[in-house]
Amino acid sequence: MKTEIVSIKTRRENSSYDITIGSGLYRSCGKWAAECGVNKNDRVAIISNRTIISLYVEAVTAGFRAAGFKTSTFLIPDGEKYKNLSTLQKILDFLGKERISRTDVVVALGGGVVGDIAGFAASIHLRGIRFLQMPTTLLSMIDSSVGGKTGVNSVYGKNLIGSFYQPAGVLIDTDSLKTLPKRELAAGFCEAVKQGALSGQKLLDLTAEVLDGSPQMTQFLAAQVAFKAKVVQADERESTGRMDKLSRKILNFGHTFAHALEKATDYKYLKHGEAVGYGILFAAALSKKLELISQNEVDLLDDVVRRAGRLPSLSGIDPARVIDSFKYDKKVVHDSLQWVLLKGIGKPIIVPNNQIPHSEIVKLTKEFTAK
Ligand code: NAD
Ligand code: GLY
Repeated sequence: MKTEIVSIKTRRENSSYDITIGSGLYRSCGKWAAECGVNKNDRVAIISNRTIISLYVEAVTAGFRAAGFKTSTFLIPDGEKYKNLSTLQKILDFLGKERISRTDVVVALGGGVVGDIAGFAASIHLRGIRFLQMPTTLLSMIDSSVGGKTGVNSVYGKNLIGSFYQPAGVLIDTDSLKTLPKRELAAGFCEAVKQGALSGQKLLDLTAEVLDGSPQMTQFLAAQVAFKAKVVQADERESTGRMDKLSRKILNFGHTFAHALEKATDYKYLKHGEAVGYGILFAAALSKKLELISQNEVDLLDDVVRRAGRLPSLSGIDPARVIDSFKYDKKVVHDSLQWVLLKGIGKPIIVPNNQIPHSEIVKLTKEFTAK
């Protein structure tokens, strides 16, 4: 089967890296690492978790060994709650104890949690050593492994401590999606719908086709990654002042309501992607209320989100807690929340909260939490 490669240029470091996508790639991951510039004598420190390593240890270690690499592996506990400074400290201790040097490489094998924390560790161990990503969830393939955001959560909120640190390469083996639990796959597809809605009809249609069973997984992932790459190349560090269509902030489409839902349910009830699914529907409904999009466009988004998977019911969630949670949104600029809405499919627009009647937000939140 054909392998696709999407290249990303990084302006700040004046370099580029490739995202290689295809089936059955783990067995040749050593060859890929060599192509990314890792030499035979460089050591490979794999960061993963028990769930993932038990599925892929054989293929991945065989892949590195076949190319002559020595590997050592450190496993972190599985779960978002371990994406914190205490786990980071343990990874740094491992890298120190193993004497992982400036010429060696950190490999993140896992979903967004592993990718974010391993990338952050690589960015600060010896002030930065090379880093490779092998994302194993749909969300990490199309989103978190693309664009160099790394980090951990703090007691004050999610992803508040971190760095922008670009990998030397990303390897996506589509076969790893076969073992992904259904709910995780659905959550990833909600992020894919988000990127489709932002990019335009073509990517949204391709996403809908894959949800309907089209076998074009490699092409779909390449198109999703290419869209995210276009946005992050245009605004590598998410400048706070930018409000245009290619500002990195547009990736927050669906996330304002999603973050509020997650906070109001103590991050325990919904997967992030599921919350984004509702967030897309909320942003679409708000865009319609402001007469930016038509009912047909709202229905189209509703249809694709529903096809991504069954979302847990929001009924019983206190709307007042959701509304209160908006004020903790990380994307607040100068005390004002910024909503990413749509003027049409593929036409995002950033609207400050003070330009939206609060009564509409309250009304919609009540409608959504009655579902
Ligand atoms: P995750 O990393 O927690 O993985 C979800 C679950 O799936 C875990 O239990 C994991 O062990 C399991 N798993 C992973 N791959 C598997 C496979 N192939 N087969 C079976 N099980 C597998 O969750 P995620 O959704 O991948 O990532 C979420 C994280 O990503 C959050 O911490 C979020 O903040 C972060 N994120 C970062 C960015 C960024 O730009 N850096 C963007 C979006 C999200
Ligand atoms: N996931 C949002 C970003 O990468 O900017």
